[in-house]
Amino acid sequence: MRSLVLTVLILSSIGTLNAAQPRQQPFRSTDPFEDITTPHEASSYKFKWPIHRVAIIGAGAGGLIAYHQFSRLNNFHVRLFERDSMPGGNWHYTANETSPNAPVPNFPTSKADFEPDLPPDGVKLPYEKSFEGVEEQRVLEVKIDQRAPKPIWERLGATGPRSYQEFRALPWPEQTPIDINRTHLQRYVRTFASFLSLNSNDNNLDVSYNTRVERVTKRYNITTSTENGQQTKTEAGWTLLLRRFTQTGNNSYKIRWWEEHFDALVVASGRFNAPNTPDIPGLSQWASLYPHLISHSRQYRRPEEFANQSVLVIGGSVSGTEIAEELDGVAGKVILSVRDSEDSAHTPPRKMHLSRVPRNVSIVPEIKSFHPFTAPGITSGKVELLNGTILHGFDRIILATGYRYSFPFLPQYINTSLRANETIPIQGTDAKSTQRQQPLITDGTHIRSLHLDIFYIEEPTIGFINMNTGIETFLYSEFTSAVLSKVWAGQAKMPSSDFMWARHWERVGKGYGRTFMAYGVEKQAAITKYLVGWLNQDAVKYGGYQLNLPSDNRLQISKLWVAARFPNYRGGDGSNGEWEPLSTGDGLFAINNLGFDSNSEGERDVETWSVRRDDW
Ligand SMILES: Cc1cc2nc3c(=O)[nH]c(=O)nc-3n(C[C@H](O)[C@H](O)[C@H](O)COP(=O)(O)OP(=O)(O)OC[C@H]3O[C@@H](n4cnc5c(N)ncnc54)[C@H](O)[C@@H]3O)c2cc1C
Ligand SMILES: NC(=O)c1ccc[n+]([C@@H]2O[C@H](COP(=O)([O-])OP(=O)(O)OC[C@H]3O[C@@H](n4cnc5c(N)ncnc54)[C@H](OP(=O)(O)O)[C@@H]3O)[C@@H](O)[C@H]2O)c1
Repeated sequence: MRSLVLTVLILSSIGTLNAAQPRQQPFRSTDPFEDITTPHEASSYKFKWPIHRVAIIGAGAGGLIAYHQFSRLNNFHVRLFERDSMPGGNWHYTANETSPNAPVPNFPTSKADFEPDLPPDGVKLPYEKSFEGVEEQRVLEVKIDQRAPKPIWERLGATGPRSYQEFRALPWPEQTPIDINRTHLQRYVRTFASFLSLNSNDNNLDVSYNTRVERVTKRYNITTSTENGQQTKTEAGWTLLLRRFTQTGNNSYKIRWWEEHFDALVVASGRFNAPNTPDIPGLSQWASLYPHLISHSRQYRRPEEFANQSVLVIGGSVSGTEIAEELDGVAGKVILSVRDSEDSAHTPPRKMHLSRVPRNVSIVPEIKSFHPFTAPGITSGKVELLNGTILHGFDRIILATGYRYSFPFLPQYINTSLRANETIPIQGTDAKSTQRQQPLITDGTHIRSLHLDIFYIEEPTIGFINMNTGIETFLYSEFTSAVLSKVWAGQAKMPSSDFMWARHWERVGKGYGRTFMAYGVEKQAAITKYLVGWLNQDAVKYGGYQLNLPSDNRLQISKLWVAARFPNYRGGDGSNGEWEPLSTGDGLFAINNLGFDSNSEGERDVETWSVRRDDW
C-alpha cells in the first residue's frame, strides 16, 4: 500500500520534476553563517607546511566521496584507513555480529568509541604480535572491538527517498525503487567503492582495511644550525599510529602496529561510534544486574528477538520510533518513553517520527528513576516516570538514546573537564589560557572550534566530513570534501585564524549543546550554495574545476516521500496540507489499559504533558 501511494504520488509529479535541471551556480551568494566573504589573498590563512600526503579515516560514504574528490586533483597522494574489513561504513550490516553493551553510565568521550591499543613502550615500529591458543569467543571480541559492528538493523528503511542518498558521480540505476532500504544502500555504497577501485578485493594500495587509526600526533622537523649547533623544531605534519587486526585461525590472530606520515587528515569516521546512555538514577544497577536484557539500539537487529515480551524503548527519535514500530505486533507490549525537551519532541522532524508510532504502542513521558530491586527478576523492577507513574513488568529494555561524538585518536583535542557551555578564555584572565588550545570535543554532544563545521581552526590541516545532523550525508560530503581538497590544493582561500575564531565565537554566543551541529534541509541548501559560490569564485582566480549545485527536484521528491511514508504527519506548519487528514483519536496515554500500575495523579499529569498524538 505504502509503495503504491508513493508510486502514484511520484508518477503524478514526474512531468514537472523532469523539467528541473541543475542550475548555474552563483559566483556570489549569501553566507548562512552571516556575512563571511571570501578573503583577499593577502589576509587569507597561510598553511604551516605544504600539503601533498592526505590521510582519510573511514571508508563509509563520506570517506569514499572524500577519496573521489581528492583524486580529482593531481596534487595529492591519498591513503584511506578503515577499521572494518570492507567499505560501506554504517551500511555494512552484520546479522550476527553486534557491538557489546553500551556502558551505563557513559564512558568519558576520550574512550567512548574505543580505547586506543598502543604497542608496548619503546618497541621499534613496525611491531607485530601474534596471539595463539586464544578462545574463539575472545578472538571474536577482539575482531568486534576492531571493526565496530555498525548500528543498523535487518529491515531498516532509508530516512529519505533514493535521491536523498545519491553519489552524483554514480547515480542509482533507473529501475531502483524510490523507497529504498538497508539492502539497497549496502549494495550501492559497495558499488561506489568498486567504482573507485577501493573495494576489499581490489588490492588497491591506497586503502588499508582492518586498520584502525589509534593515535594522531604532530610531527616536527628538527634542524641543527651549522653556526652554533642549536636545534630548531618546526611543525611539519601528522603521524598516524595504525593497528591492523588479522585473524590467522579459529584460535589465533595477530596485531601489527606501524606509523605513516601525512600533511593533512580528513576525519570521516562517522557520528555513530560512541553510544549515549542516559544518566537516569538506578539504571546502572539494572544494567549491571541484567546486562543481557538491557541493550542499546545499536545492537538491535530483528523484532523476532523480542517475540511476546514486554519491551520498554527509551528515546523518541528515529531509532526509538522505528524500533517501536517494528516491535508492534511481534512483542507482547511496547512502551516508548519520550523526553519532552524544548528542542526535541516538539520539532517537526521529531513529530514526524512520532507520528508513525502505532496506536498499540504506548507513549509515556521521561523516566525519573529505576527503583532498586526488592525481588529477583527484571520483571519485578519498578520504573518511575517524571509524573509519578510507576510501571513494571518489563522483560527487555532498549536504549534508543542516540550517540556522542568521540575521536579517541585525537586525545590532545579532547577536554572532558569543560561542560557543554564552557570555553577556555581566549585571552587574559588566566595566564595559561592563551597557551591552551580550544578543544574539539568536550561532553560529546557537539564538536567545537570548527570553521564551517569543516576545518579545525586550531589546526586547519585537520578536516571533518559528515559531522552535522540533519544533512543528506551522501550529497553534502561531496561539497565539504571539495572544500577540503581545493583549500589544501591552494585553489580556494580560507580567512585568517582571527577571522575564523571571531565568527566562531559569534556563533557560540547562541550556545553549544545538542543542536549546535544541527542543520536541516534549508540550512544545508543555503550552506551548500555558499560553499559552491566560494569555491567557484576562487577557482576563477586560482584554477581548478567548477562545481554544480544539486538539482532542486530532490526536495520535491522528498516531500512526496514524506507524505507517503508518514501519512499521519501534518507537516511542520501544523496544517493538514493536501495530505490525508489525521484521525482524531483518544489521545495516547492509556497506561491503565496496558496492565501497568499508575498512581492516582499519574494520569492527570500525563494529560498535561504537551506532546500528544493529536498534535502531530
Ligand atoms: C540506524 C541508522 C540509520 C541511518 N539511516 C540513514 C538513511 O536512511 N539515510 C542516510 O542518508 N543516512 C542514514 N544514516 C546516517 C549514516 O550514518 C550515513 O548514511 C552515512 O553512512 C554516513 O557516512 P560516513 O562515511 O560519514 O560515516 P560511516 O558510514 O559511519 O563511516 C565511518 C567509517 O569510519 C570507520 N572508522 C571509524 N573510526 C575509525 C578509526 N579510528 N580508524 C579507521 N576507521 C575508522 C568506521 O568503521 C566506518 O566504516 C543512518 C544512521 C544510523 C545510525
Ligand atoms: N531508518 C533510518 O534511516 C534510521 C533509523 C534510525 C536512525 N537513523 C539515523 O540515526 C541517527 C541517530 O538516531 P537515533 O534515534 O539513534 O538518535 P537521536 O536522534 O540522537 O535520538 C536520541 C533520542 O534519545 C532521547 N533521549 C536521550 N535521553 C533520554 C531519556 N533519558 N529519556 C527519554 N529519551 C531520551 C533524545 O531526546 P532529546 O532529543 O531530548 O535529547 C532523542 O530523542 C539519526 O541521524 C537518524 O536519522 C536513521
